[in-house]
Amino acid sequence: MSVKVTWLGHAALALEIDGTKVLVDPFLTGNPLAAADPDTIEADVILLTHGHGDHVGDTVAIARRTGAKVIANNEVSIWIANQGVKDTHGMNPDGAYDFGFARIALTIAFHSSSMPDGSYGGEPNGILITTKEGKKLYLAGDTSLFSDMRLIGEKRIDLAVLPIGGNYTMGPDEALQAVKFIHPNAVLPIHYNTFPVIQADVVDWARRVHNETPSKVIVVDPGGSFEV
Ligand code: NI
Ligand code: MN
Repeated sequence: MSVKVTWLGHAALALEIDGTKVLVDPFLTGNPLAAADPDTIEADVILLTHGHGDHVGDTVAIARRTGAKVIANNEVSIWIANQGVKDTHGMNPDGAYDFGFARIALTIAFHSSSMPDGSYGGEPNGILITTKEGKKLYLAGDTSLFSDMRLIGEKRIDLAVLPIGGNYTMGPDEALQAVKFIHPNAVLPIHYNTFPVIQADVVDWARRVHNETPSKVIVVDPGGSFEV
């Protein structure tokens, strides 16, 4: 079974893995690029990379409405539980856990992670998803470039999802180097053009990745889908 990936704008993704509906960083309300309605979107599982508002987004409302399980670092998961979400699961990097539809591990990321109310959100993360048939998706989260991305690349990544917008995260130059470290089969750029400070020329970036790496670049508009 392939994984269906839909970019919902900014860092928000909807994944369909073996019939399980997975949302990642569902920031929809207040997201000028949002390609889904937080009041009707379906979710079985919500994955969060860190505590910032442009990632936690509508998680609490969606999880309370749908009963979705929220998986995040320990501090973020406790904060989410304290907002009245019944089903949460806290983790820390490299502690992979099999959730049935996939095996999930958090990875390190270099960023910050306060919650929307300013409380401590633990360390920020990337997320490694391994499906039952062994497909691997690496969602880098908000991060700078770091050389240990080479180690993540040794796992043979089918799809890497990388921020390219700069200012808060890697910009285009660092994200290009990240592709060279990870050498995924395919790469999806995200976290750009949502706000004036993170404008990026994605067409130029895709051309550079195409010219300088063997990885396939997937560029979609918010709401666009593809299969991995
Ligand atoms: Ni952030
Ligand atoms: Mn962010």
